Amino acid sequence: MKDSGRDAAIKSMGLYHHVDRVMNELRELGRADDEPLRADELTTFDQLHYHGTDAVDEAIRTTGIDDRSTVLEIGSGFGGPARHLASASGAAVTALELQEDHHLVAADLTRRCGLAERVTHACGDFLTHDFDGARFDAIVSWLALYHIPGRPVLLDRCRTLLAAGGFFYAEDLYERRPFDDAERARLSSELFANELTSGDRYRSDLEEAGFEVVAMDDMTGDWTAFTRGRLAGYVELRERHLRVHGDAVYETMCDFYETMVRLFTGGKLGGIRVVARRV
Ligand SMILES: C[S@@+](CC[C@H](N)C(=O)[O-])C[C@H]1O[C@@H](n2cnc3c(N)ncnc32)[C@H](O)[C@@H]1O
Repeated sequence: MKDSGRDAAIKSMGLYHHVDRVMNELRELGRADDEPLRADELTTFDQLHYHGTDAVDEAIRTTGIDDRSTVLEIGSGFGGPARHLASASGAAVTALELQEDHHLVAADLTRRCGLAERVTHACGDFLTHDFDGARFDAIVSWLALYHIPGRPVLLDRCRTLLAAGGFFYAEDLYERRPFDDAERARLSSELFANELTSGDRYRSDLEEAGFEVVAMDDMTGDWTAFTRGRLAGYVELRERHLRVHGDAVYETMCDFYETMVRLFTGGKLGGIRVVARRV
């Protein structure tokens, strides 16, 4: 199971403080008890990346995932992307998540959505998790890989887990201009950022690990606008969020959303979308 050291350290990031956010939203939907749910009614709060299910549809489109595919998601959070992937494409998805509290919520939501046959949840650290000889047609990840130190080792694991010709799709953070030591220390605590490389390095790490880069898009402008809109929208609904979640969640989420706006507008943090293929 999970590495308790990394599982504890990642809680320095505000986004991961309040798993109770999900229960609060379910109560607001009128589904606090163990009633069945639909995956599409959870998407405003179960997607911890930018552009929600549209970003998952982009992965399905660019990698050709379909109902014969087996897919691994690295860092699956509350399971929103994995559930949408399975519902929209029919693929069999393995959703690997480091934090046990997130994993347990994710598995419960998937069961209540009737998707447990197509989405298998596992709790663990991608770098050490035992996949028991499994091979995947695609490995996908949204805003998780920058948490994981040692990109060459991570990519080597990905290559080993992929079938020949299999796809790697990642939306991730990267270093547009160099951070100094103090900034890196702050990023390590605010974002639990352990692997922020330049775009050129991202590409060369993939190539050296045995991947052909099919597409690499700079998402910084898009994600800067998205995070600004997200913060403004959250503040505009302050009264609603205070009623549903209380002060502590509201303050934590505002702080986190402000941090992302500050970092993207600062010009050094960038967003990247990568599609690559195992050679
Ligand atoms: C920003 S969240 C995104 C979650 C999900 N991909 C989504 O978009 O909704 C990143 C997730 O990656 C997980 N994570 C970080 N390091 C990991 C690791 N070494 N192995 C597995 N999961 C990891 C975190 O616990 C967190 O839930």
